[in-house]
Amino acid sequence: MSEPTPAWASVLPDEDYQHSFGLKAGSAEKFFAPTERHADLLAQRRHWLRNDPARCAALLPGAESLLEETIAFARQWGAPVSNRREATTLDSPVGHRRSDFADCLALGGAWEPDYLLLKQDAATGRFHLLGGCVCFPSSWRFEEKVGRPLEVIHTPVPHLNEQLASPIHNFLSRIKPGAAWCRANWGLSRSPELNQHPARGLPKLRPPLREDEVWLRVEDQALVALPESRGVLFGIRMTVIPLAEVKRHPAAACGLARALRTMPDTMLDYKSLLAAKDDLLRLLESAI
Ligand code: HEM
Repeated sequence: MSEPTPAWASVLPDEDYQHSFGLKAGSAEKFFAPTERHADLLAQRRHWLRNDPARCAALLPGAESLLEETIAFARQWGAPVSNRREATTLDSPVGHRRSDFADCLALGGAWEPDYLLLKQDAATGRFHLLGGCVCFPSSWRFEEKVGRPLEVIHTPVPHLNEQLASPIHNFLSRIKPGAAWCRANWGLSRSPELNQHPARGLPKLRPPLREDEVWLRVEDQALVALPESRGVLFGIRMTVIPLAEVKRHPAAACGLARALRTMPDTMLDYKSLLAAKDDLLRLLESAI
C-alpha cells in the first residue's frame, strides 16, 4: 500500500514537462516559519555564511532599505532577528551602528530559507537582484547573479525568457502586499548536500547509477512585495528527498518519469540530466 502523499509530490504532476509560472497565493509567515529541521538547517547556513560569505551573501548599494523592510517583516513573522536600532545597543557596547552587511548575514543565519532582494531599476524598469543570502544553491552561482537583471539571470534556462520573461516582469511589477506568491522547481542530484554551489565539485549524475545515489531536490519559492522600499523579497526553501522515498509514492514517481521522458534535450542538458536520463527511467520503472 502506498503512503499518504507528501506536499513535495505536487511538484511532479502527471503532465508533460513545461516551464510553468504556477504561482499560488500563500502565507509568508508560514513559508519562513521554523520547521522540525530548524537546528540542523541553521547550523548548516551559519557554517557557509561564516566560511564562504563571498559566495553566499551580498548587499549592493541601494539594497539597504529592502533589507531593512525584510528584517521588519521577519520580526513580524516571528524570526529572532534584531532590528537596526536594537542592534546598535545590543551588539555594540560603544554604540556603533551594526553594518548593513552584518544585518544581511544575521538574517541569512536566522531564517531557514535562502532569501534574495530585487528592485526595479528606475531607468530600464527591469528587476535587478541587489542582495540576499543563498547558502543552498542548486548548481548556480549567487555571486555571479548579484547586480544582474532577472532576464539575464534566467538566460541559462533554455526557452524560459521567450516563454515567461514578460509574464514574470508583469507579475513582479504588480505584486500586491500581504500574500506570499508561491511556486516550486525541482531537480535531481547525485548528492544529498543542500549547498550545491558549482565550486564544491559535487558528483554529477552519470550512468551507471544506483537508486541510493539519486536525490530529488524540491525548491519551494515565495515572492513577497516590499511596499515601503518598493522591492520584492524572493524566498527559496530546499527539501532533499532520496529517490527510494520518491518511489514509495507511485504518483510522484510517474510524474517524474513523465517529466524526464517529455523534457526537451536542451532542458535535460541544463539540468545535468541528459547523460543519466535512461538510467533514471530504469530506476523509476519498478515504482510505476
Ligand atoms: C514567477 C517567477 C519565476 C519563474 C516562473 C521562474 C522560473 C525558473 C525556472 C523554470 C528555472 C529553471 C529551474 C530548473 O528547472 O532547474 C529558474 C531558474 C532560476 N531562477 Fe527563476 N523563476 C522565477 C523568478 C525568479 C526570481 C524572482 C529570481 C531571483 C533572482 C529567480 C532566479 C533564478 C535563478 C538564479 C535560477 C537558476 C539559473 C541558472 O541555472 O543559472 N527566478 N527559474
